[in-house]
Amino acid sequence: MTTFDEILTATVGVLNAHRDALEQIDWLVVNRDLNGRARFIAPEPVERQEEPRRQVERIYRELAERIAPHAYPPESGLLFEVSREAACSGATGFRLEDFTNVWLIDRLATEGNWAEIAPETQGPRRIVFFSIKGGVGRSTALAACAWRLAQAGKRVLVLDLDLESPGLSSSLLPPERQPKYGITDWLVEDLVENADTVFESMIATSDLAYDGEIYVAPAHGADPGEYVAKLGRVWMPKIQADGTRQSWSSRLHRLLQALEGRIRPDVVLIDSRAGIDEVASACVTDLGANLVLLFTLEGCQTWNGYRILFEHWRRAGVARQIRERLKSVAALVPEVDRIDYLKGLREGAYQVFADSLYDEIAPPPPDSIERKKEGEREMWRVWEIVEGWNFDEADEGAPHSPWVVHWHRSFAGLRSLQGRLAVIDAAEVNAIFGGLIEGVRGLLDSEINHD
Ligand SMILES: Nc1ncnc2c1ncn2[C@@H]1O[C@H](COP(=O)(O)OP(=O)(O)OP(=O)(O)O)[C@@H](O)[C@H]1O
Ligand SMILES: [Mg+2]
Repeated sequence: MTTFDEILTATVGVLNAHRDALEQIDWLVVNRDLNGRARFIAPEPVERQEEPRRQVERIYRELAERIAPHAYPPESGLLFEVSREAACSGATGFRLEDFTNVWLIDRLATEGNWAEIAPETQGPRRIVFFSIKGGVGRSTALAACAWRLAQAGKRVLVLDLDLESPGLSSSLLPPERQPKYGITDWLVEDLVENADTVFESMIATSDLAYDGEIYVAPAHGADPGEYVAKLGRVWMPKIQADGTRQSWSSRLHRLLQALEGRIRPDVVLIDSRAGIDEVASACVTDLGANLVLLFTLEGCQTWNGYRILFEHWRRAGVARQIRERLKSVAALVPEVDRIDYLKGLREGAYQVFADSLYDEIAPPPPDSIERKKEGEREMWRVWEIVEGWNFDEADEGAPHSPWVVHWHRSFAGLRSLQGRLAVIDAAEVNAIFGGLIEGVRGLLDSEINHD
């Protein structure tokens, strides 16, 4: 019997054998429903045109035989819609490679949509801290980064979007500074047009910053209230007055824009949830991030997880839209055997990036690498368009090549990160988190120099 993973290959095989017939219709959508059963959706006029309809029915019958039990009985396997947009509404999907008019879409039981990548924001830089596995020091690194950027005079906005296991805000704010509300309150109130009531009371400033300012939007307020009951509703799409549906991640984007408008930060640091999860997908793909930091530990667990994600992007044809914004971070790098550890990590990273995201061409000649390092992104783009996108394994500017965060005993098993950051100095922060912080500052500087 055919399993789910065979549907795509079988579909492409069957459709390939009927290219001529497919060219007669404007578009065809292959819809995989919530149970993983595939159906065709074709333009409405086809229903009334005998010959094209018969052809599409014949193709579906052939496919249904190949992919049973992931198909419908042939007589109910073909639907019609007024437009492709209507057919794809509420689903995630992509156009099939090598076809100009065939899309494959998925109806998922979750709201997460990893296959559509929002364009980079043109406003303040948004940086997402993401990891496949949890507990890798992501939130701690974010807090240290916020601290250092604020010390350098930046206005930093921090969003705690690890809604299911919140904690970052308590590491940046002492209890008496916690605001009354949090992001969860805004998302729930927005559903009943009451978001303005909580907006002004969901941000607090940290007392850790001296020259700049750290603004924190926590997951919940000082009193979490009925957090579990609220959390179960944040994912709700909103049906607006004109009947259109706004997904929860669009609502989150609206909140982010409102916060940026209110605070006017130089940079936004977003603590995403770990793993291939709905909140993480919103953070990584929907918020127009300029930089997505991929926290990694050496070992196959990390890379298997990233490979799944990268392959999904490659298959969905969106690798190009996201790959330039990725950068791996070597998290919790141990004190002993550091060189070997980093070498192993870089090799593991290179294999996954090269297999899924880099183009299959020779790496660029050294002079173009120099140009890229100088920050001349435009020249680099020209090279990319003409030649493709690839890197040498040793190229430190490449996305697979990690910025380093060191494991340090003063951060291990901390009871209060807030207390720790209150007594830290710049030299200490740089010694542990310097690789990451310098990288982030480079991004912010390149914005000033080149945008
Ligand atoms: N550089 C470091 N050196 C040593 N220990 C660290 C370092 N950074 C974080 N830790 C410790 O590792 C643990 C996990 O850190 P943190 O909560 O920042 O990870 P996380 O990736 O955000 O986890 P989660 O996925 O649960 O949100 C904490 O006990 C923290 O004190
Ligand atoms: Mg965390």
